[in-house]
Amino acid sequence: MQKTISQKLSNKFKVKTLFAAALILNFGYANAQVEKEKDVKAFEFLSKANKGFDRKAQEFKNGAVVSAHPEATAVGVEILKKGGNAVDATVAVKFALAVVYPNAGNIGGGGFLIYRSAKGDIASMDFREKAPALASKDMYLDVNGDPISEKSKEGHLAAGVPGTVSGMVELHKKYGKLKWAELVEPAYQLALKGFKLTKQQVNELNRLKSKFEQFNPLGTALIKAEGKWEEGDLLVQTELANTMRLIRDKGRAGFYEGEVANYIAEEMKRGGGLISKEDLKNYHAAWRKPIVGNYKGYKVITMPPTSSGGIALVQMLQSVSTYPLSKWGFNADSTVQVMVEAERRVYADRAKHLGDPDFWKVPQKELLEPAYNHSRMANLNWDKATPSTEIQAGEFVKKESEETTHFSIVDNAGNAVSLTTTINTSYGNYVVVKGAGFLLNNEMDDFSVKPGVANYFGLIGYEANAIAPNKRMLSSMTPTILEKDGKLSMVVGTPGGSTIMTSVFQTILNVVDFGMDMQEAVNAKKFHHQWLPDRVDIEPDALKPEVQQKLEAKGYVFYKRNGIGRVDAILVTKKGTYQTGADPRGDDTAGGW
Ligand code: GLY
Repeated sequence: MQKTISQKLSNKFKVKTLFAAALILNFGYANAQVEKEKDVKAFEFLSKANKGFDRKAQEFKNGAVVSAHPEATAVGVEILKKGGNAVDATVAVKFALAVVYPNAGNIGGGGFLIYRSAKGDIASMDFREKAPALASKDMYLDVNGDPISEKSKEGHLAAGVPGTVSGMVELHKKYGKLKWAELVEPAYQLALKGFKLTKQQVNELNRLKSKFEQFNPLGTALIKAEGKWEEGDLLVQTELANTMRLIRDKGRAGFYEGEVANYIAEEMKRGGGLISKEDLKNYHAAWRKPIVGNYKGYKVITMPPTSSGGIALVQMLQSVSTYPLSKWGFNADSTVQVMVEAERRVYADRAKHLGDPDFWKVPQKELLEPAYNHSRMANLNWDKATPSTEIQAGEFVKKESEETTHFSIVDNAGNAVSLTTTINTSYGNYVVVKGAGFLLNNEMDDFSVKPGVANYFGLIGYEANAIAPNKRMLSSMTPTILEKDGKLSMVVGTPGGSTIMTSVFQTILNVVDFGMDMQEAVNAKKFHHQWLPDRVDIEPDALKPEVQQKLEAKGYVFYKRNGIGRVDAILVTKKGTYQTGADPRGDDTAGGW
């Protein structure tokens, strides 16, 4: 393996790349800084609204659902009780979230899922959005070649071709037990009759009112007719109910053809977007081979590209696997230092090597070599932080060649689904398709709009993730299932943009290395490093002051922010019960029977 890795750059190349990296660092940092200010404002609600980090784990015998909204969790539990399997509950929860959690639950976006049957068969599905056929590499650059930041983030041009409905149809076709219509019906009812808004939702909808007005001149149900939304108000979405009825009755054709396809095409015409009826007709979710890694006796089953999440997770686990984390203890200075240095190196690889596998040869095998990841940690300096300017993506000998939501479900037979889905940032591109009543994504911002330029999450990318017609944009989503001794052990995942992989990583370590139960592992405060910007994002109270001071003395820069990740997870206990972890950072709720 050593022969295939050349981390030693020639001096000339090193100087050039360091200079370029410094420029990128400054640009990316400044860009991310502006975005982060927005982020911090959004998360202020969370910190105020969310007490409850002392939440206790619940246990269920026959099946469990953990999702971002109590109504969606209730729908999933009902389906399981009726005799539906984990896939049936997944379809029902997915559509229910599209109604009750419009900021991220969606039919206007996409996602990824990992499935593990009770017998141990595994599968993964990529229902990520695609660039429209008319998309082009420089579509978000001005005449000088500079990025026009808002264009990939807000409004019609930011939308990729949605994948959710195709994904759910294919999933149900292969593994579903109950009838399709029965699974979409609860979402139809919730849209038609309405559901009560939570305090957090009210805050968000009121905060974003002017954005909804700007992008929906013809009106949307998300804007209250008079005054401000209040906690407990009923949100009725009649247009969305009609869309759900069409999906319920016609399946795939109810969304990608006919009435809804016409509404999308008209919306694109009105706002200057690119998605055509042809794009919709041509969209198909893809079954992919899951990534399988090992960590301390656990088999880690996780998402391959088009998400970077699975590769990054396994790389981070391999990078820290030789260090005595449990001896050092949870969030001890050595533990944090090793995890941060692993994260830094893995995110550098992500920026260079990861992209849509249908368009780019991802060096998956090389990145997942334990020897490679161990060698990347060889230059860890215990006395001082490694500056990100000194870390580049690994080089291989060329062979020819921040909103999302996650839910976890287990049924009484032991089938499990881990699903993460998104319209990218909270409420996507703010465009609600007139007539069809659902929000569109702003997923195009997950492409690298220009080499080295940071996206909303401060992530940078290069050629691997450049825009091309019909290409899927790189994701960080990391739906994951762990197996131990041939049996289901954990179902885990989270939203959080660039923090997804590190949040899943930390949650797994919290259980495997630090002996926490599922809810404790989810409650635990987190930190995050993504190579650039070169800093450790940290939730308040994640580290003891003396630990933080020790690390600061070594050159680590800390950046305080609220609400890293919203992990929803299930752990199978030694007794065989399903122990849940529902994230207190949101309205996330566990249920079961
Ligand atoms: N839109 C966030 C992600 O896919 O990583």
